[in-house]
Amino acid sequence: MSFTQDELKKQVAYAAIDYVKSGIIGVGTGSTANYFIDALSEIKNKIDGAVASSETTAERLRSHGIEVFDLNDINGMDIYVDGADEITEHMHMLKGGGGALTREKIVAANAKEFICICDESKYVPILGKFPLPIEVLPMAKSYVARELTKLGGQPQLRDFTTDNGNLILDVHELKIKDPIEMEIKINQIVGVVTNGLFAVRPANILLLATSDGVKTIKKDA
Ligand code: 5RP
Repeated sequence: MSFTQDELKKQVAYAAIDYVKSGIIGVGTGSTANYFIDALSEIKNKIDGAVASSETTAERLRSHGIEVFDLNDINGMDIYVDGADEITEHMHMLKGGGGALTREKIVAANAKEFICICDESKYVPILGKFPLPIEVLPMAKSYVARELTKLGGQPQLRDFTTDNGNLILDVHELKIKDPIEMEIKINQIVGVVTNGLFAVRPANILLLATSDGVKTIKKDA
């Protein structure tokens, strides 16, 4: 049976509900995460609430009657559920297509497990076909762009302001042979807030929606 990409996103988002036990849930940003929020609303009495990775996600959670907690008021969480633009078999992800990468990385860092929910088009052998988003402080954008060019990338300024008041450079043509090394290297450029590589802290569980159903892939399985 064949499904549209949107149908696959919805299926995988609903499959993630099996991992929701109780307490506070970390919630990502994007169209797949939006389906997860819809699914979460159906079992909202099981949980205390959520921490949102963007203003858009916070608004959607509240519109479903799910309480949104400030990350500083809680002591971590069991799971963070989010989509990705690309993910490899090593659970390294490229994220930030929706521009929420910094808050996503912060909320994920506070969760015991990162559950990545994706349709099969996002499962790739090597990261970097999707341009790598980098959040930069506005005054540093030209400097950071020059440094990224030295790394072999072609940065393009996105017409977008992040929830943190910063800018996004989307870097094309970057050869990401070692995602952990590249994540660390880009974060060392002065003026970079965060880059969209999630490799130092990879996903723990990947739920992958395919035409044959939702597959579960675990890190180190
Ligand atoms: C937002 C993200 C999203 O997880 C990523 O862009 C995937 O989005 P979608 O679920 O809409 O395909 O990183 O910053």
